[in-house]
Amino acid sequence: MNINQIKKDFPIYNQKINGMIPIYMDSACVTLKPNQVIKAINKYYKEFPACAGRSGHTYGRKVTEEINHARKIMQDFIRAKRKEEIVFTRNTTEGINLIANSLNLKSGDTVLTSDKEHNSNLIPFQLLQEKGIIHKIFNFGDIEDFKSKLTEDVKLVSTVFTSNLDGTSQPIEEMIRLAHKDKSLILVDGAQAVPHKEINVKKLDADFLVFSGHKMLGPSGTGVLYGKLHLLEELKPFLVGGDTVKNSTYTGYEPEDIPERFEAGLQNYAGIIGLAEAAEYLKKIGMKNIEKHEYKLNQYISGKLIDMGITLLGDTDPSKRGGIISFNIKGVHHHEVAGILNESSNIMIRSGMHCVHSWFNKHGLDGSARISLYLYNTKEECDILIEEIRKIKKFTE
Ligand SMILES: Cc1ncc(COP(=O)(O)O)c(C=O)c1O
Repeated sequence: MNINQIKKDFPIYNQKINGMIPIYMDSACVTLKPNQVIKAINKYYKEFPACAGRSGHTYGRKVTEEINHARKIMQDFIRAKRKEEIVFTRNTTEGINLIANSLNLKSGDTVLTSDKEHNSNLIPFQLLQEKGIIHKIFNFGDIEDFKSKLTEDVKLVSTVFTSNLDGTSQPIEEMIRLAHKDKSLILVDGAQAVPHKEINVKKLDADFLVFSGHKMLGPSGTGVLYGKLHLLEELKPFLVGGDTVKNSTYTGYEPEDIPERFEAGLQNYAGIIGLAEAAEYLKKIGMKNIEKHEYKLNQYISGKLIDMGITLLGDTDPSKRGGIISFNIKGVHHHEVAGILNESSNIMIRSGMHCVHSWFNKHGLDGSARISLYLYNTKEECDILIEEIRKIKKFTE
C-alpha cells in the first residue's frame, strides 16, 4: 500500500488549518472521502438527478440502472448470494431498527445483546420490552457466558462484531454457529468490521448484517442491511409508503418485491452511487492490506502508549483491536486530551462514551479518548500523535 499515493485521492489533505495539514484519526465515526466518491455523487446531480424505479424517462432509467449496479457491487463486496439480499438504508441504526420492528417478535420472546453494544443496538430492544419482549445481556466476547444465556426463548441475538469503544472483536463465527444450534437468528452489527476486514456473508452465515457507508469512505447517511433472502421474505416492513408497494386500494396493498419493499420513500440515490464507488475503491486497495496496515499502526501506537504507562481499554493485543486505540491518561480528562491534540497539531480524535454509555456506566467510567485509524493514516502521523500525547502525559508528572 502506497499511503502517500492514497492520500492524494483525499482532497482534505490539500487543506491546511493554522498552517498545518490535518491528522484525521476519527474514522470509526466518519471516514474521509476520496475524489472518486465525490465525483460519483456529483455525477448523479450533474447528469441524471432523477428517481429510480418509477419514472420511465431517460434520467429515470439511468438512475434505476445505476442503483441496480450499486446493489451488485455491494453484493460482491460482502459476497452475498444474491443482490436482492442487499437493502439500502441510511445507516447501521436504521438497519437494526428495521429488523427489531419487522421480525414479528412476540411477547415472551427474548433478544440477546452483549454488554458492549452501541446505543443503536441496545435502545431498539429496550423499546420492544413495552410489547413484552424480554431483553437479556451477555458479557462481550465471553463465549461461556454467551452459551449460558442462549436459552430456548432466545429468538434473536443482536450483537456487535468489532466494538467501536475499544476495537476488540468477538469470535463471531463461533457465536453464529452457537446461535443457529440454538435455533436463534443472529444479527451482526458490522459497523466497525465491514470497513476494515474482508467479509464473506456466505461463509459467516449471519442471518442479518448491518453497516454504514460513511464509515467506509462512502457518503453520510448511507448504509446496508444484508439479510438472507428467505428471512427477508418473512419480515413485515415497518417503514412503508412510496416504492414499497406494487398496488394499493383504500383498504389494502400489494407489497413490492424484495429488497425495494424495505426501501420506503425516495432514496439517497447520489449516496448509494457514492457508496458503491467507495466499495470499489476499498476493493482495489484490498481489504487484507487495509487490515494489515491498521494493525501495524495500532501495534506501534499501543506499544508507545503502554511504555508511557497509559491505560488502554480492550484487548491488550493490538491485532485484536483493528484500528482503534481507546485510552485514558491519569490526571487529564479525555475531553481535554482530545481538545489539546486538536488545538496543538490538528489531530482529530474522539472523546466521550462513544455511544456505549451502558458499558461505561457499568464500569464507573465517564469515557475515554479514542484514536481510530484507516487506510490514509501514516507512521509519520502516528509519531506526531505519540509526541503530543507524551507532552500531555509529562504535564501530569
Ligand atoms: C459498532 C457500531 N454500531 C452502530 C453504530 C451506529 O452507526 P450509524 O450512526 O452510522 O447508524 C456505530 C457508529 O459509530 C458503531 O460504531
